[in-house]
Amino acid sequence: MIQHNDYIDLLKNNVLWAVEKLKTDPSYFAELSLPQKPNFLFIGCSDSRIPLDMITGSEPGELFVHRNIANQVNLTDINLLSIIEYAVEILNIEHIIVLGHYKCGGVKAAVEGLNEEDIVENWVSQISDLYHYHKKELEAIGDKTKMYDRLSEMNVIVQLKNVLRTPIIQRAFRNKKKLWFHGWIFDINSGLINDLPLPLDEWKELDLLPEDY
Ligand code: CO
Repeated sequence: MIQHNDYIDLLKNNVLWAVEKLKTDPSYFAELSLPQKPNFLFIGCSDSRIPLDMITGSEPGELFVHRNIANQVNLTDINLLSIIEYAVEILNIEHIIVLGHYKCGGVKAAVEGLNEEDIVENWVSQISDLYHYHKKELEAIGDKTKMYDRLSEMNVIVQLKNVLRTPIIQRAFRNKKKLWFHGWIFDINSGLINDLPLPLDEWKELDLLPEDY
C-alpha cells in the first residue's frame, strides 16, 4: 500500500534532482529545453521493473517512448500510430525497438487470464492467439517459466512485424528512409537485454521489408 509520505517523497526527490543537476551543470535545463532529437523509438511494456533510461545508460532527450501492457502494437491504436508517425516523420528517428521482457504479467494473463472478463485479457488477445497457434511447440518446452519466456520472445517478434505493417513504415520505405528494427527482451533475472534474431527473409517475402534491407 502506498503511504501518503511516499507520494511526498517523489516531489522532494524531484527538487533534489533538479538542484543536483544544476550544481553539476548550470546550463543543464537550458539545453534540455531545446527541441528534442532522440535517436530511438521504444515500444515497451509498462512494467515498473524496466527503467528504460537506466538499463540502456540513456540520458533525457535520447529515447522517444511508448509503453503499454505487454508491448502491444495494435494497428487500430491511434495513440501508438501517432507516436510512430511523429517519430519517423517529424523526429526522423531511424531505430525502432520493440522491448518485451521475461516474466511479463500481460503475457501470462493472455494464457491464464487474470480474474474474469478483464480488459487486460482483451488487450493482450493477440498473445492468446499466438499461444494457441504455437501451442504444441510451447507446451513441448515443459518448464512453465521457460514457456512464458519463449512466448514473450514470440510476442516481441509479432509486434515488430505489426510495426512494419503500418502505413507509416511502408510509406517511409517508399520514400527511401533509412530505418532499423530491433526486437529486444529484457531479462529481469540478469538485467541483460537479449537482441532477438529477426525473420528478415520471411518479412521480405511478405513485402513488409524492402529487398535491400
Ligand atoms: Co510486461
